[in-house]
Order: sequence, then C-alpha cells, then structure tokens
Amino acid sequence: MSIEIREECHDDIAAVRDLNRQAFGQDQESNIVDVLRANEAALLSLVATVDDRVVGHIMYSPAVVGDNITGAALGPMAVLPEYQRQRIGSKLIKAGNRKLKDAGCPFIVVVGHADYYPRFGFRPASKHRIKCEWDVPDNAFMLLVLDQAKMESVSGLAKYRHEFSSIS
Ligand SMILES: CC(C)(COP(=O)(O)OP(=O)(O)OC[C@H]1O[C@@H](n2cnc3c(N)ncnc32)[C@H](O)[C@@H]1OP(=O)(O)O)[C@@H](O)C(=O)NCCC(=O)NCCS
Repeated sequence: MSIEIREECHDDIAAVRDLNRQAFGQDQESNIVDVLRANEAALLSLVATVDDRVVGHIMYSPAVVGDNITGAALGPMAVLPEYQRQRIGSKLIKAGNRKLKDAGCPFIVVVGHADYYPRFGFRPASKHRIKCEWDVPDNAFMLLVLDQAKMESVSGLAKYRHEFSSIS
C-alpha cells in the first residue's frame, strides 16, 4: 500500500468532510474543520492518500499560550475506519510536526489519547505549567516543544480558536 502525505487542496474538501464524519460517527469535527478552513484559521491541513483516494486528514490551527506565544493546536485528525491501524495517522502526525518545526512554530498542543501521542514526543502540558482552557484529564492535554528557546519561560493557559467552543 503506497501512502502519500500532501497538503490539502480544494478538491479534497468533500472527501475530508466525509472521512471525518465516518471516523468520528458524527458531524461536529467535520463542521469544525470546515469553519476553521472558511475562517482562514487552518495553519496546516494535510491529507493522506492511497491510490489517489483521500483516506486520512489532519488539521492544525493557532493556539495561544501565556502572554502571547502562538503555536499550533493539532486536531481534528481522522483516518477512515477501514484504513485505521496501518500507520497512516502516524505518518500524518510526523509530517505535521516536521512542517511546523520547519516553519518556526514553537509548540503543538493536543487533546487526545494519552497512549497515542507520546510516541510522537508529546508530553503532558502540565509538566511545562501549561493548562488547557477546558476541563480535561491531565494526561489528555499534551504538548510538543518544537523550539526550546522560544518556550523557555512560557507557561499559563492555552487557548484554542473560538470555533472549537462554538461549533457543534
Ligand atoms: C486516532 C486515529 C486518527 C489514528 O489513526 P491510525 O492511522 O489508526 O493510527 P496509526 O495506525 O498510526 O496508529 C495506530 C495506533 O494508534 C493507537 N490508537 C488508534 N486509535 C486509538 C484509539 N481510539 N484509542 C487509543 N489508541 C488508539 C493504537 O495504539 C494503535 O497502535 P497499535 O496498532 O499498535 O495497537 C484513528 O484511529 C481515528 O481516526 N480515530 C477516530 C477519530 C479520532 O479519535 N481522532 C483523534 C482525536 S482528534
């Protein structure tokens, strides 16, 4: 199986919407993706393709920590159910990490499975005295530092884009 990771283009939008709906079993994540994109708040949107079919997607939007340090929030991300557990999600995350680091992004935050994201370098954000704006378990809110120097004395509340709280 040949998996390609590339930036999302306009023709992918319907397939991305459909795969998010299938993976999550509801429309909320698809709606958030569509509104972030429409509001030009998608820092990075990558798709995974197999034989030119879009089977996976990851989106990053701006997150602000502390006084005013802007990094990236990972999510939503999804892989079509029949393509899960074949490392497609891993490839999307690794490509996203690399692209954001190359772009000078200082950090990535994620709310997610505590046994999935640590394999990509994410650690509980509480270790950096960074808190989530939502009430989530400590080990479910994780941080990946991409630029140690910029993050040296950064702590405080991490704020996501408003679309995450306003879109259902
Ligand atoms: C989470 C998701 C994107 C992972 O994509 P994937 O291509 O299946 O992931 P990979 O193949 O790279 O990694 C598989 C590993 O992820 C872990 N994993 C996958 N889904 C998981 C889940 N729901 N809970 C816990 N761990 C999970 C497993 O440990 C698995 O490892 P294993 O195969 O050795 O058991 C995919 O399962 C998905 O779309 N899930 C539904 C939507 C979702 O929950 N998105 C994430 C929150 S934004």
